[in-house]
Amino acid sequence: MMTFPELLKNRRAIRDFQDKEVPANVVEEILQESTLAPSASNNQPCRFSIVNCKNTLKALSDESKANLLDDFAKNKTSLNPSYAEVLKDKNFNVYYNAPCVIYIIGSKSVGSLDVDCALAASYIMLSAVNRGLGTCWVHLGSYIRDPQLKALLGIPDGCRIVAPIIIGYPKEIPAASERHAPQILRVIS
Ligand SMILES: Cc1cc2nc3c(=O)[nH]c(=O)nc-3n(C[C@H](O)[C@H](O)[C@H](O)COP(=O)(O)O)c2cc1C
Repeated sequence: MMTFPELLKNRRAIRDFQDKEVPANVVEEILQESTLAPSASNNQPCRFSIVNCKNTLKALSDESKANLLDDFAKNKTSLNPSYAEVLKDKNFNVYYNAPCVIYIIGSKSVGSLDVDCALAASYIMLSAVNRGLGTCWVHLGSYIRDPQLKALLGIPDGCRIVAPIIIGYPKEIPAASERHAPQILRVIS
């Protein structure tokens, strides 16, 4: 059993996975734990779709890449333009060939949706580490617009993907990238 500080230290962005499936019951346990995350007014707006199929994930990756490249071409994104070069690489899979992706989805009408889903994502990422799994939030994989693919993911009308979380057994856990010290603006006593 990991201590909480160990859990925090081992929660790294994982982009290289063992060729091993994530059992469905483990994903369910993780999602169950994620329901303990706080949400505004305890509204609990997060919905989840889970994809374990590599072919489907490849199609979703291609769709997201194409839409993002289109946004870059039309100057419709504030993302760093350097991403465009990576996205043009046919072999680049935005989900890093992970065996499983959990899409966190919610209604566009919820004002606090991004914050609520981000908190659920944190719980998912920490719960996964506690089970020997690795994760990474992959924003580049959230640009799914094709109606058929949206329907396949079960995304209801008026809802959107907030956070695709890739999940699998890590090949290794990298050291944490450098962090600066907390920038405390004031302590008023
Ligand atoms: C909102 C958000 C979006 C992210 N999107 C991507 C992404 O599209 N692709 C990727 O490889 N990593 C993505 N990451 C992972 C970050 O790059 C990573 O968390 C950061 O470099 C810190 O590394 P660490 O998670 O190991 O501490 C994202 C993280 C967050 C929180």
